[in-house]
Amino acid sequence: MSLARHTWKPPLLALLAVLAGLALSACGRDDPDLTEGKAQFVQKCGSCHTLNRAGTQGTQGPNLDDAFRAALADGIDRDTVQGIVASQIAHPRKNSIMMPGLVEGATADDVAAYVAYASGKPGEDGGALAQAGLAGATSGEQIFTAAGCGGCHSFGPAGTNGNIGPSLDDLAAAAGSTDPEEFVRESVLDPDAQVAEGFNSGVMPSFDGKLDDKQIQALVEYLLQGN
Ligand code: HEC
Ligand code: HEC
Repeated sequence: MSLARHTWKPPLLALLAVLAGLALSACGRDDPDLTEGKAQFVQKCGSCHTLNRAGTQGTQGPNLDDAFRAALADGIDRDTVQGIVASQIAHPRKNSIMMPGLVEGATADDVAAYVAYASGKPGEDGGALAQAGLAGATSGEQIFTAAGCGGCHSFGPAGTNGNIGPSLDDLAAAAGSTDPEEFVRESVLDPDAQVAEGFNSGVMPSFDGKLDDKQIQALVEYLLQGN
């Protein structure tokens, strides 16, 4: 008996269900992790983009609360926004200062899902999300990373090479006659009080009210290690 003439034909619906299952497993996982997405957004995107719920204040790229406001008001759903963000992450405009592939794979899905969730949404994140990113960072190293300092500054211990602001490797020298701790604290809380030579004022966001006293102290000690 030839197989070709008696091939089993699955009912169409069952076949579709199998295909849908395959599609999901091919993507790795189906539910994006918003907590991970927020933490990654703060680290990798926040130095250029403002997003209120993430607590980021970058200004080199568009404000991501405003970016989708009109579209959302026009009835575009947040899944569509997620798709737009995902494609921007994968394929920024040629020659954009936004590098392609800052986050990849499931992490890129998580980031796109968080931006779509948070964009233009009033109020603050609750539950586990509230502790993701900057709010939950306790060590100096975590705070430096979560605040996106490395996107603008090179700093040896953190392995970052941002060049929008000065290198932070010799802050004792940068402080001059000011007490180094005082100098770093002021730089973080009121960046324009003294502007580093050769750099522009109005670029570094103030972290006043974004970091509590303990976090600022941990950050200051981390930055002055070895000084
Ligand atoms: C070095 C700065 C920089 C970083 C880092 C950066 N972006 Fe951008 N982004 C930009 C700029 C500038 C634009 C404006 C369009 C362009 O240049 O392509 C942009 C555009 C966008 C847009 C489109 C907004 C609109 O109005 O259409 C989205 C969404 C976006 N970025 C998300 C992200 C996400 C998510 C990350 C982190 C994975 C990120 N960006 C990291 C600079 C940056
Ligand atoms: C969007 C870019 C940007 C981000 C994000 C940023 N900075 Fe800056 N920072 C700058 C620029 C530009 C300057 C130089 C102008 C000035 O002094 O205000 C600067 C100056 C400084 C200085 C003074 C250095 C000197 O030599 O005078 C310190 C210290 C500093 N930043 C620490 C930090 C820390 C810590 C963070 C994260 C909590 C951070 N910065 C985040 C852009 C940034």
